[in-house]
Amino acid sequence: MVPENTGGTPADSDASAHWLSARQSLAGLADGGLNIAFEAVDRHVQDGFGDRMALRCVDRRGIVDDITYGRLADLTGRFASLLQQLGVRPGDAVFTLLGREPAVYITALGTLKAGGVFCPLFSAYGPDPIRTRLRHGRGRVLVTTAQLYKRKVAQIRADLPDLEHVLVVDDPWGQHTPAGSIDFAHALEAATPMSEPPRTSPNDPALLFFTSGTTGAPKGAQHAHAAVVVHRETAQRVFGLGRQDVFWCTADPGWVTGTCYGIIAPLTAGATVVADREEFDAVRWYRLLQDQAVTVWYTAPTAIRMLMRLDSTAEGRALTDGLDLSALRLMASVGEPLNPQAVLWGEERFGRPFHDTWWQTETGGIMIANLDGMKIRPGSMGKPLPGVVADIVEHAPDGRIEQVTEPDQPGMLALKTGWPSLFRGYLGDDERYRAAFADGWYLTGDLARRDRDGYYWFVGRADDVIKSAGHLIGPFEVESALMNHPAVAEVGVAGKPDPIAGEIVVAYVSLKPGHTGDAELRRTLMSQARQRLGAAVAPRDIVFVETLPKTNSGKILRRELRTLDIQGETAANTPRPNDGGSS
Ligand code: PRX
Repeated sequence: MVPENTGGTPADSDASAHWLSARQSLAGLADGGLNIAFEAVDRHVQDGFGDRMALRCVDRRGIVDDITYGRLADLTGRFASLLQQLGVRPGDAVFTLLGREPAVYITALGTLKAGGVFCPLFSAYGPDPIRTRLRHGRGRVLVTTAQLYKRKVAQIRADLPDLEHVLVVDDPWGQHTPAGSIDFAHALEAATPMSEPPRTSPNDPALLFFTSGTTGAPKGAQHAHAAVVVHRETAQRVFGLGRQDVFWCTADPGWVTGTCYGIIAPLTAGATVVADREEFDAVRWYRLLQDQAVTVWYTAPTAIRMLMRLDSTAEGRALTDGLDLSALRLMASVGEPLNPQAVLWGEERFGRPFHDTWWQTETGGIMIANLDGMKIRPGSMGKPLPGVVADIVEHAPDGRIEQVTEPDQPGMLALKTGWPSLFRGYLGDDERYRAAFADGWYLTGDLARRDRDGYYWFVGRADDVIKSAGHLIGPFEVESALMNHPAVAEVGVAGKPDPIAGEIVVAYVSLKPGHTGDAELRRTLMSQARQRLGAAVAPRDIVFVETLPKTNSGKILRRELRTLDIQGETAANTPRPNDGGSS
């Protein structure tokens, strides 16, 4: 069991009553039990909807892989019993290193059925972030492809003493898989589906998502099965999802959005989830919206800005003219600030605005949103959802919280504790967990303001984490990878504003005496960082500097790093289009 939402006093009684009532719309298990996967899959089969389409994975050529709710119940039941056969016990961590393919859905939901903890890893990570997370999460099982294993895991396997089983999804003849690994498809076929319903309770651990802070190793945010109350509630309230809907969340399941809203939330509503197996491609994305008759589309500002760029020329626009997007009834965005222009462009291009939504790994579900039917203020994140008590606060050094009552005054965005998807801990780091709460409030680390009418506006981050293409990147992880090079004396990493990706990762490097910061060393450092960290996390630029700005106590002032650009020698570097972003 993980603790119930600790960290302060319970939420307002109205909010508590709200969540109690939201819980009633779930099926639940005997004796007050609750299981995310049961709510997402088996419940619909029990209700007679086993033939409905649960999941449609689309590849580059438009070829689809369809799985009904009935089939998904069977496959996840088989995966759960396979885990039991392998000796995986409730609370053990099962990791994936996979793209958007059926195995990730089967693993996530099958693990939850077995009472395990599902932890997704972003498949674009390099070996260093994979090792840090698998070690810290004590992953016992990893589901991945033979290719990814060979390129990224084989070299770190000796550092992963807890990793007992590797299941490989794309190598039925075992030509490329490591000795002792298990073929995913064969093992599923051979397994007998679990005959009993799952036995989890609302406070049992279910999900583990790694997220980054300014300093130290990535934090493992833990969530319990009770989070499904918020997933189900927001599926309904924010997206209005029902069985008739086709929902496309463009986020990768390696991040929190891709799991909570790319898998769990739409399935709890009985909708059909569309997954695009490929990377971002503007024209293909438009086609997918049309061909799959997507009704609700949840995406990210970076992707929207890339679509806007295509639209900005007559030739670009011609590529997507004449498409029939009449099925689309709602478009929403998350993960980074949504420019007001993007909201307006949505109206012009699709006849409807993008609805911004705000949340974080720690909140476990959407907390603030521009709800359908509410007047949208372009540039605002919207208003707190029912059951969510938000405020703008000042955090006094003695730990007390003071509300900022004046409208439009920036302060820390804080949420009153007590909603069911609030994280239950940072794995193995109680101190950091406790530091996130004060006086019954969860302190989000975001600076925001609230206007006279109660709309919330994002102002910035209170810490130094970087948001690039919607992905949260901890500067410390990038700095550590570069520090490994013998020429490097010191590194500071910061986000630099970018018109498409929001921010790009830039490393400011000072060298040891006798080394020259020339183009060749820059190339070497960039390639080392890409190999170790993966393309999604590695710096897009390296600036050589004499010294780094520091506080009196010697800590690097990351905020001031950007001004060094002007002094240093930088390589012109435009961001590569990637997966369109969003955690
Ligand atoms: O800074 C906020 C930004 O993303 C952070 C959370 O990142 P992560 O834990 O990776 O979760 C991403 C998916 C929910 C927040 O602290 N963020 C999220 N949504 C918005 C946003 N910034 C501005 N506007 C948003 N709508």
